Amino acid sequence: MKTISICIGSACHVKGSYEVIEVLKKLIVEQSLQSELEITAAFCLKNCVDAVSVKRWDGKVLSVSRENVSQIFQDEIVAYL
Ligand code: FES
Repeated sequence: MKTISICIGSACHVKGSYEVIEVLKKLIVEQSLQSELEITAAFCLKNCVDAVSVKRWDGKVLSVSRENVSQIFQDEIVAYL
């Protein structure tokens, strides 16, 4: 099981971290990845200027938005499973 952590700190919250979490949850179910991937909430990942911050299991911090979350999920998360 690999974990991705979505920041729910104030900068990321304002930029839509809860919507990003909802989209990620949906993508995980749609692609039947529930046994491989879990998501968790995190506090500030020190990447506020590029919020919403999502930390991959290997420590890489990704900058995600409502607009690019599906693309980032495929290119930076699913591709590395
Ligand atoms: S609040 Fe999300 S990185 Fe700082």
